[in-house]
Amino acid sequence: MQIKTVGVLGCGLMGSGIAQVAAGAGFKTIVREVNQGALDKGMARIKRFLDDGVSKGKVTAEQRDTTLGNLTGTTQFAAMKDCDIIVEAIIENVEEKAAAYTFLEAGVGTHTIFASNTSSLCITELAAKTKRPDRFGGLHFFNPVPLMKLVEVVRALTTSDETYQTLFSFSQALGKDPITAPDKPGFIVNRLLVPYLLDAIRCYERGLGTIEDIDKGMKLGCGYPMGPLTLLDFVGLDTTYYIANIMFDEYKDAMFAAPPLLKRMVLAGKLGRKSGEGFYKY
Ligand code: CAA
Repeated sequence: MQIKTVGVLGCGLMGSGIAQVAAGAGFKTIVREVNQGALDKGMARIKRFLDDGVSKGKVTAEQRDTTLGNLTGTTQFAAMKDCDIIVEAIIENVEEKAAAYTFLEAGVGTHTIFASNTSSLCITELAAKTKRPDRFGGLHFFNPVPLMKLVEVVRALTTSDETYQTLFSFSQALGKDPITAPDKPGFIVNRLLVPYLLDAIRCYERGLGTIEDIDKGMKLGCGYPMGPLTLLDFVGLDTTYYIANIMFDEYKDAMFAAPPLLKRMVLAGKLGRKSGEGFYKY
């Protein structure tokens, strides 16, 4: 299927990154937020990232302007009626997502593919909330979306072969290098990453080392771009806690159990970079 117009639902951290990448790849892109304030914030984030790219010599001023020219912000679901694919990147809540799909399905054509960027919810459950379970799949991007090359393409039990192929080639057209992941909690990357992050917290709780030394150990010893506690602050402690709970719920395996310190840091509002403090202060 030929994709010309891309819709992105949500212009938060992930949605704005996805919209930027789609517009940068030459697609006419329409991004929707719930209100003008949230939309302005997301659009400003995209502009700032592109301006930074120009300052760093990674993007030309012409590429920045073309990307911004391909991008339209809206607060209306109706503005997405001509999209060939809509990538949903809103709050991780099944009912909120289902409500958004219902609004979208009132306007879009039957051919439109829906993809969710969820990192934790069941793709088959989300697909079942729509009237197009065969034209529904997961497209899981990584933060920061414009810099991270990976997309996990996730098939629901109901995803058709054609939809899966379209999602895979669309990811490539975005300049990403996709992998196929199963519709199981955490897909491939978070299935491996989350137990590692939880274990880093357990190690810190048990006095294995200081925050700085645990991070330095994995950064310099294994060549990871960030140590695990820095990465937790980057991803968000609340996000990690949420994913861990979903994985524990499904697998009932102790390796996915949130350590007591994680729960308490989330309760105390120490969520990482987004709240100004996590394992480090920002
Ligand atoms: N535009 C274009 N390019 C830019 C840019 C911009 N605005 N800003 C930075 N870059 C480029 C830089 O020029 C640099 O390019 P080179 O490697 O060619 O020199 C590259 O991007 C890296 O940028 P920096 O040097 O500024 O920063 P860094 O080296 O500290 O890397 C990072 C930053 C990419 C975030 C790196 O620290 C990293 O990869 N961290 C790990 C991130 C990660 O694991 N993300 C996944 C989280 S899990 C998730 O998202 C899924 C989930 O479900 C929870």
